[in-house]
Amino acid sequence: MNTLELAGHGPVIPVIVINQLADAVPMARALVEGGVKVLEVTLRTPVALQCMEAIAREVPEAILGAGTVRSVADAKAALNAGCKFAVSPGYTSEIGRACREMGLPLLPGTATGSEVMQANADGYFFLKFFPAMQAGGIPMLKALAGPFTDVVFCPTGGITLETAPQFLALPNVKVCGGSWLTPADAVKAGDWARITQLAKEAAALRAA
Ligand code: 3PG
Repeated sequence: MNTLELAGHGPVIPVIVINQLADAVPMARALVEGGVKVLEVTLRTPVALQCMEAIAREVPEAILGAGTVRSVADAKAALNAGCKFAVSPGYTSEIGRACREMGLPLLPGTATGSEVMQANADGYFFLKFFPAMQAGGIPMLKALAGPFTDVVFCPTGGITLETAPQFLALPNVKVCGGSWLTPADAVKAGDWARITQLAKEAAALRAA
């Protein structure tokens, strides 16, 4: 898979934190039911890898990826857990090379021109822009479009249902990421219907 294909499944990739293994499958099913099938499950909790395994096994229609991949070991663990792609919050050539060698498509995190150039030098042109709002938001993405004409971004960090259309309207943005589809209170309450509804709203987003 080429990571750009991920953008072909809808305008938003949910960034998911799962604290309890029992939540993984119902949450993934709720998102898929709402029309969101590309899922980024972050490696931020002790149960994350088990959650990935469960989703890979029981929700095969999801296109499962690992977020918060910070090391080569993280990437290997994600691949072994059944992930089809990886997202990193930053970029190192070591991780870029390792993911290529293990055949794990990587969406590398960048926030500056130097990071974009390093990722480009290693062959990565579809990049996460993180943390999007804090690193300059829409004006920064517009500025990056000047020199980096062949780079497209998935901005993530601080984006909401309301602001996503403005990001999606930028020519160098193909898809955006966010955690708003899986609010902690809905997950805690097992309110999967609300998550399906949030997924439906995200899947229907269009550029402003
Ligand atoms: C993250 O890695 O935490 C994502 O960027 C999600 O950010 P958000 O919670 O601001 O959507």
